[in-house]
Amino acid sequence: MISRRGLLAAGALSGAGLAIPAGEHLRARAAAATHDPLHHGHGTPAGPRPAGSAATGTPFSVRMPVPPVAIPARTHRGVHHYRIPIVSTAVELLPGVRTPVLSYGGGFVGPTIRARTGKLVRVEYENQLDVPANVHLHGAHVAPEHDGHPMDVIEPGGSRVYEYPNRQQGTTLWYHDHSHHTEAEHVFRGLHGFYLIEDPAERHLRLPDGPYDVPIMLRESRFDEQGNLYFDPFDFDRPVVLVNGRPQPYFPVAARKYRLRLLNASTHGPLTLRLDGLPMVQIGSDGGLLPAPVPVTELLLGPAERADVVVDFSRRRPGSRIILEETRGPVLRFDVVRQAPDASRVPDRLRPLPPMPRPTVHREVVFSTDFNTIQSLINGKVWDPNRIDFRIRHGATEVWKITNVDTDFGGVNHTFHLHLVQFRVLDRNGRPPAAHERGLKDTVFVAPGESVRVQATFRGHLGRYVYHCHMLEHSSYGMMAQMQIVP
Ligand code: C2O
Ligand code: CU
Ligand code: CU
Repeated sequence: MISRRGLLAAGALSGAGLAIPAGEHLRARAAAATHDPLHHGHGTPAGPRPAGSAATGTPFSVRMPVPPVAIPARTHRGVHHYRIPIVSTAVELLPGVRTPVLSYGGGFVGPTIRARTGKLVRVEYENQLDVPANVHLHGAHVAPEHDGHPMDVIEPGGSRVYEYPNRQQGTTLWYHDHSHHTEAEHVFRGLHGFYLIEDPAERHLRLPDGPYDVPIMLRESRFDEQGNLYFDPFDFDRPVVLVNGRPQPYFPVAARKYRLRLLNASTHGPLTLRLDGLPMVQIGSDGGLLPAPVPVTELLLGPAERADVVVDFSRRRPGSRIILEETRGPVLRFDVVRQAPDASRVPDRLRPLPPMPRPTVHREVVFSTDFNTIQSLINGKVWDPNRIDFRIRHGATEVWKITNVDTDFGGVNHTFHLHLVQFRVLDRNGRPPAAHERGLKDTVFVAPGESVRVQATFRGHLGRYVYHCHMLEHSSYGMMAQMQIVP
C-alpha cells in the first residue's frame, strides 16, 4: 500500500531513487504547500539548490580567526555595558570573496563577551537590519524579559538592553537570534557569538587560560557559485563546515595544553569530531565543568551543544600537524609551531555537581514530524505563542522524558533545548548516560527512536520561557513550546 505522503513524495521526486531522505519529503511537501497561517510564507525552499559552490580554497591555507573579545562601551560601578549593532554586511569567509552575512558587531562570529560569575552585564543591541531580530543568551539563567523570547523582538531601527546577572557557574554560553520563525535563517546567516562566564571559584584548578583558552565555533554551511550563503530549510546535507567562520583553517599552537571550547552552532546538523591521534579530555559541557575529566576519542555535538576539551599538544614535537576530522572530512588543522612553558593542569577532580532534589512532577515531551503538513510538532502540536504548554511551580524539581518518534523515512534527528535552567541527563533509552553527558546540560541530542530523561529544578525567575528542538529549521516550523513558571 502506498500512503498519501508516499505518493506525494514519489510524485514530486519521480525517479529520485530508492531511499528518499526525510528532507526530500519535506521539501516536496513545502513546494506543494499553498497556505500556512503560522508560517507567513517564509521558509519555503530558496529556489533550486546551487549545483556548485564557490571555491573553498586550498585546505589549511587560512589561519583560524579567534573571535575578538568585546570591549565594554562603559563600566559603571563594576557593571560592564556593551554595545553591539545587529547589521547586514559582507565578510570574507571563502578566500577572496565577500559574502553577505547578518552579524552581531560586523564579524561572522560575533564578539566574545567575557563575563564573570555573579557580576551583572548589560548588552545593548541596536537592530540596523530591515527585519525584526533579537538575542537569546543560550544556557543563561535570566529573567524572561531578557531571554529573547521569539515574540519579543527588536524592531528595525530599535534597540534593546539585555541584562545578564551571571548567577551561574563558569561555562561556555553563546548568543544567537531567536526571532519568531526566522531564527533558523538568521542564525544560518551569521547571528551568533560566544559568551563565556569565568568563575573565580575555578581559578585554583589552573586549567589552561588566556591565549590557551580558545573558543571554536563549528557550523555547517552551503555556498552558491558566487559565494553567497545558500539557505534552504530543507537542505539537510550542507557540505561545508566553517570553523570560526573559515573552511578548513589551520591554527598554530604551542607544544602545551589548550582548553578548546567547541560549539556546534549549526542550525541543523550534528557534528561528529575526532582529533587524529591525540586524546581529547572533556572537562565541561553546556552548563559548566564536569565533576571529573573524561577522555574522549569521538565527540558527537548536536546543534547548540558545547564541549570544553583540553588537548595536550606537548605530546607532539614542533613541526607536527594534527587534524580535527568531522564525518564530512578534515575541518581544522593544529600546527605545533613552538615550545612553551605550561603551568596549567587538568586535576582529577574539577567541580562537584549540585545535589539533585527528589522530583515531584513527571512530564512527557514527544518530538514528531507531520510529513503531510510539513510541520514539526511537540506533543502533537505546533508552537502557539499564545498557548502555555506546561505550568511549573517555582522551585519544583521535574523529570521530563523526551522521546523522538521520527523513525520513518530513515529517521529525523532532534535536539532538546530547555530555557532558564540547566538540567541533568538521567538516562538514555533506560541506560545511564555516557560520562560526558552526566554534567550540567541545556541541550541534548535525541536520535530517532530514542528516549532521554532529564531532570531540572525550576527556580530563580517567574514567567514564560520556551523549550524547543534546537534544529532551528524544526523550531521555526513549529517544534517549540512554552512553559510558565508560576509562584
Ligand atoms: Cu539556543 Cu531557544 O535557544
Ligand atoms: Cu536557549
Ligand atoms: Cu528537531
